[in-house]
Amino acid sequence: MTVDLRTRYLGLDLRSPIVASAAPHNGEPAIAARLERAGVGAIVLPSLFEEEIVAEELELNRSLEQGTEHFAEALDYFPTIDRFEGSAERYLDGLERVKKQAGVPIVASLNATTIGGWIRYARRIQDAGADALELNLYRVAADPRRAAADVEAADLDLIASVHAAISIPLAVKLSPFYSALAHFAAAAAKAGADGFVLFNRFYQPDIDIEALDVIPRIELSQPWEMRLPVRWIAILRPQLTAGTSLALSSGAASGTDVVKALMVGADVVMMTSALLRRGPEHVATVEAELRTWLTEYDYHSVGQLRGSASQATADDPAAFERANYLRTLRSWRTPTPSS
Ligand SMILES: Cc1cc2nc3c(=O)[nH]c(=O)nc-3n(C[C@H](O)[C@H](O)[C@H](O)COP(=O)(O)O)c2cc1C
Repeated sequence: MTVDLRTRYLGLDLRSPIVASAAPHNGEPAIAARLERAGVGAIVLPSLFEEEIVAEELELNRSLEQGTEHFAEALDYFPTIDRFEGSAERYLDGLERVKKQAGVPIVASLNATTIGGWIRYARRIQDAGADALELNLYRVAADPRRAAADVEAADLDLIASVHAAISIPLAVKLSPFYSALAHFAAAAAKAGADGFVLFNRFYQPDIDIEALDVIPRIELSQPWEMRLPVRWIAILRPQLTAGTSLALSSGAASGTDVVKALMVGADVVMMTSALLRRGPEHVATVEAELRTWLTEYDYHSVGQLRGSASQATADDPAAFERANYLRTLRSWRTPTPSS
């Protein structure tokens, strides 16, 4: 039996639900080609950051207004300007190069927190050939003067502004830290999001106890981290319109992980850590595992599997919400200490 792996994501037809999520080397033509050969449905490029665009614009100002106070002041705000110089233009060139060779959709990514002149880069990304744009709203809500509603309103304005700037589909990569995520997702869809990526993975800095310093730490994910997006995709799938896409991102590494994500209603399953650990060719292994599982359980297509365990269809819908909390705590059995 042949199994049909085709899926739709952001209105795009993909040959497979396995997608390479934003990662450092996805923009390199050689890596993109390996991902494609291994069978990915689409490739998400690493993000272009608002800070990089702003720094590039300031650099342009410097050439235009060399020696003026205006730039000296700006430099104070952007002490790392040299590091970012030229990165926005390089990003667009890289996108064009990858797009030219790619046989699968290419999703570009913008990482931003405020509305600004940089938004016109969303249009430039579209003009450079991106099939869709992912907007990564990475922020830590640490300002005590800003209430949850203020932060959400700013994010919704940002989504609406980016949506207004482009005609390609827009995905929003969400943080799990909204206090009322289901409400926010509904509002974001209204503001122009065609789909959501759940979730952005936050990197927690560590403390160097000798140097009394904060050190950045990036650790690759573990499979158990999938449970958070699995729960939320199960909750959101029946709430959002069928045309709103859902992508799982965090922890997925195997064919059975893809099965779980599809069961709760994901349209695609994204991977970064697993591909950084095992290389782009791991996509083919995951696809083979997915095919084997679907065949064994008599599914003819991923469409047939999709949503079979989402909140609307699960026998116990409360399993994804609070009722599960009590049951989970009561299920603990203290292991017998080993001798
Ligand atoms: C080294 C590295 C670089 C990343 N760069 C980006 C990025 O530029 N933009 C983005 O939205 N996510 C980025 N991510 C996050 C991944 O796209 C993904 O959401 C996250 O790693 C969780 O998925 P995983 O468990 O499959 O790794 C990066 C992750 C890693 C490990």
